[in-house]
Amino acid sequence: MESLIEAMTDVVEDLYGHVYRVSTFATHIGRAIGLDQENLDRLSTVGVLHDVGKIHVDPEILAKPGPLVADEIRRMRRHPEFGFAMTIDAYDRSIAEAILHHHERWDGNGYPFGLRKNEIPILARIVLVADAFDAITSHRSYQPALPVDYALDELRAHAGTQFDPDLALAFADLVETGTVEVNSGAITALAV
Ligand SMILES: [Fe+2]
Repeated sequence: MESLIEAMTDVVEDLYGHVYRVSTFATHIGRAIGLDQENLDRLSTVGVLHDVGKIHVDPEILAKPGPLVADEIRRMRRHPEFGFAMTIDAYDRSIAEAILHHHERWDGNGYPFGLRKNEIPILARIVLVADAFDAITSHRSYQPALPVDYALDELRAHAGTQFDPDLALAFADLVETGTVEVNSGAITALAV
């Protein structure tokens, strides 16, 4: 797995921070809903490798600061399929499938297949919540880090549309009760 992670260095912003936070958040959610250790281990791997397919997306699209045009969006949205192809031979099938489906939405408006609700593998549904939360609370080239409270509101607002509601609400509880520690730059960023 190390060589795959290294290969992502140029394509995932704040790679070593982001993928390990997603992996940790996802594992917390998995534990809260009672997944067994085998699935928690798989979830940890999916958290780290979910965006590995971006290696095969044009670097100019990945680095583009402004909004993407339709053709660029189409090409960017192929990264889950690339990630599936890169992991299916080396990892358990459920890991590769979770990578393939990590941008599917609960309401069916996600990609690549527009799967809905429980059609989406549970590991993919969990990583979507963890990934979205980290994207909001950490600094990205297109946005500063936003406060944890804002991210919790977003999770709750999109529970049942973007997110599996049980998972989004379970994670919001874990953060609010301090079970999951969030060392976000958000507070510091807003204070200065
Ligand atoms: Fe992704």
